[in-house]
Amino acid sequence: LIHHINIDTAGTHTCKVYSGRDSIQHLPDSLRIYKQENALILIDANVQRLYGRRLIELLADCKFRVAVHTLPSGETAKSEAHWLAAVDFCFEHGVNRKTPLLAIGGGVTGDLAGFVAASVMRGIPLIQVPTTLLAMVDSSIGGKTGINHPSGKNLIGSFYQPDTVIADTTFLKSLPDREWRCGMAEVIKYGAIADPDLFDIAYTFRNGYRDSDQLIELITRCANIKAGIVADDEKEAGKRAFLNFGHTFAHALESFTEFKRFSHGEAVYIGMVAALKLSALAGNSIDDVPLMKFADNYKLSVSDLKSRIPGLVKKMFADKKSLNNSVRVVMLKDYGHPYIADLTDLGIVHDAWIHALNVCD
Ligand SMILES: NC(=O)c1ccc[n+]([C@@H]2O[C@H](COP(=O)([O-])OP(=O)(O)OC[C@H]3O[C@@H](n4cnc5c(N)ncnc54)[C@H](O)[C@@H]3O)[C@@H](O)[C@H]2O)c1
Repeated sequence: LIHHINIDTAGTHTCKVYSGRDSIQHLPDSLRIYKQENALILIDANVQRLYGRRLIELLADCKFRVAVHTLPSGETAKSEAHWLAAVDFCFEHGVNRKTPLLAIGGGVTGDLAGFVAASVMRGIPLIQVPTTLLAMVDSSIGGKTGINHPSGKNLIGSFYQPDTVIADTTFLKSLPDREWRCGMAEVIKYGAIADPDLFDIAYTFRNGYRDSDQLIELITRCANIKAGIVADDEKEAGKRAFLNFGHTFAHALESFTEFKRFSHGEAVYIGMVAALKLSALAGNSIDDVPLMKFADNYKLSVSDLKSRIPGLVKKMFADKKSLNNSVRVVMLKDYGHPYIADLTDLGIVHDAWIHALNVCD
């Protein structure tokens, strides 16, 4: 089963997205459109170890000459040094304006490779081959690319759309459990902000990968939601911000714990529980069961943080999204009905944290 959607951004660019079992078979055709004999590949080290040979054989069978540059796995790859090494690699292999660059890996590879594609010769063709659940439902779609700076995450980068995204779900069978939960938090987020029917399907897959058409449908629906939001608001002037549901809390938690203790998805789940509580405290009547059902997968021994909530609240107000002593949070009137609020009342933010830390302890 393979689904195909097109994403139109700003009416000027169409990105084709293929998702499903063995959708990687679309790769040769996606490359042929550039009428080039060669392609450049940036690939995550773990993905290279697991699937590198198969991918290179697929391309060699179709008479493509490929040059491969392996990126270390992990967030450290999103650095200036690794960006420069990848740019050097492109020039060493005779890149021209039509040479396609393939990003094969999770969100780290996609963000770095996307920024390489955006910057080499002011832009060369980019194809994303996401191999994590998070990358399939989130980071490979929408065109945000970039690297980290010592001052903070994702501070250097640009918007640059891939021409094609190929999300082959068979890659997911080797994904570690923690990475699965990380992607699942974003899936749950789409349930909360856009499509509450997703909660039930997501629940079926909460514990890990199973080869199933329903999983393919889940991934496609999530990608579609992100695509729809991005197509309307590519540069985050409006509703793209809804994708940050739970994230104001999550960023505070990640930075308070120096990015060492929680994966992004774990922090996002805690953040969504807090944001839901905040929505209730602000007077919205919303059933918390659909979100809470997933709590067993996010039991994270957080009791020590309960006495440190003032520090977490302070971090939220220091976040780049805060304006005039207020903190900008995505809230829910109901599932599928998000809105943005600028909060100044520290008390309810504090109470939302207490609730979320209790739920995820
Ligand atoms: N551009 C965007 O819109 C956007 C959105 C969300 C997140 N992000 C970024 O994405 C990054 C996180 O992405 P991620 O969660 O995919 O992490 P990741 O790229 O670090 O991958 C997670 C781990 O899984 C391994 N891996 C990848 N595919 C695998 C497979 N098929 N089988 C086994 N192991 C595999 C990797 O080697 C790595 O160790 C962050 O840097 C974040 O800032 C970007």
